Amino acid sequence: KNIAIIMGGYSSEYQISLISGNVVYQFLDKTKYNAFRIHIFKEKWVYVDANDAEFPIDRNDFSVNINGTKQTFDCVFNAIHGTPGEDGLMQAYFELLNIPQTACDYYQAALTFNKRDLLSVLKPYGIKTANSYYLNKGDVINADEIVQKLGLPCFVKPNKAGSSFGISKVKTAAELPIAIEVAYKEDNEIIIESFLDGTEVSVGVINYKGTVTVLPITEIVSENDFFDYEAKYLGKSQEITPARISDEMTQKVGEIAKRAYEVLKMKGFSRSEFIIVNGEPYMLEMNTIPGLTTESLIPQQAKAAGISLEDLFTNAIELALN
Ligand code: DAL
Ligand code: MG
Repeated sequence: KNIAIIMGGYSSEYQISLISGNVVYQFLDKTKYNAFRIHIFKEKWVYVDANDAEFPIDRNDFSVNINGTKQTFDCVFNAIHGTPGEDGLMQAYFELLNIPQTACDYYQAALTFNKRDLLSVLKPYGIKTANSYYLNKGDVINADEIVQKLGLPCFVKPNKAGSSFGISKVKTAAELPIAIEVAYKEDNEIIIESFLDGTEVSVGVINYKGTVTVLPITEIVSENDFFDYEAKYLGKSQEITPARISDEMTQKVGEIAKRAYEVLKMKGFSRSEFIIVNGEPYMLEMNTIPGLTTESLIPQQAKAAGISLEDLFTNAIELALN
């Protein structure tokens, strides 16, 4: 089988995606699959060969002409964080072309990538969330109203982004306008949330060999003010798997993450983030193209469950093909 590993993307997360994609390329079972690295950038969609030579993708059918031979793909392994890989655009494109792909379907991708909409949909199912306030670009910023509703500190986030790009923890009303400006660099919508003072955990839920499976849960202890970019990728945090929470809480938060996966009719990977306050998990978000670098959480959680990266990637492809 010929597998196109798509990586890169149009957002600030492209560098993380290139690392994720190259990990998939490295660990893909070469006895089963032929792996092709495809870079998806705004300026170019290209197949990149072992010598880093580039061949343009024909966007009409997602094929590539490699030195006179037309190469097509049996399956796409999506390793693009952010747009257009995690927000449904690529999913819809491959669905139209009838090419199986490892990510969830386009609707689930678009919904989960939008923090506001995801949390609004899940709330009636009893899933708790932080108090929130929304802004669209151009809206008048009423700092008093925001502080009155959410208290301080609060978190200002781009509504559709990842890897903590554009997120600020705001401690005074005076800091709000700058934080909002920073968030608008990533997205034209903003979600501002109340600060949840508790234990942060990350819960991977995947379909493993046909069964929706909760992976061992990771506890996040950031050395920074929150789990920001530096904490995520530059070692400024401790990631403890399994999390140091009770068996009951492990069960409880795992079941909430699994319920969200099932309610949304998810496929493939998911990694949901929660903060546990006074015995209650509050959901922050769900990632459907979670980081797959060797240091990323899903690979760590899979390892703790006895699933190698090779198994994890084979599983994703086999699910997509069946
Ligand atoms: N958005 C990053 C890649 C993650 O969720 O792991
Ligand atoms: Mg995220």
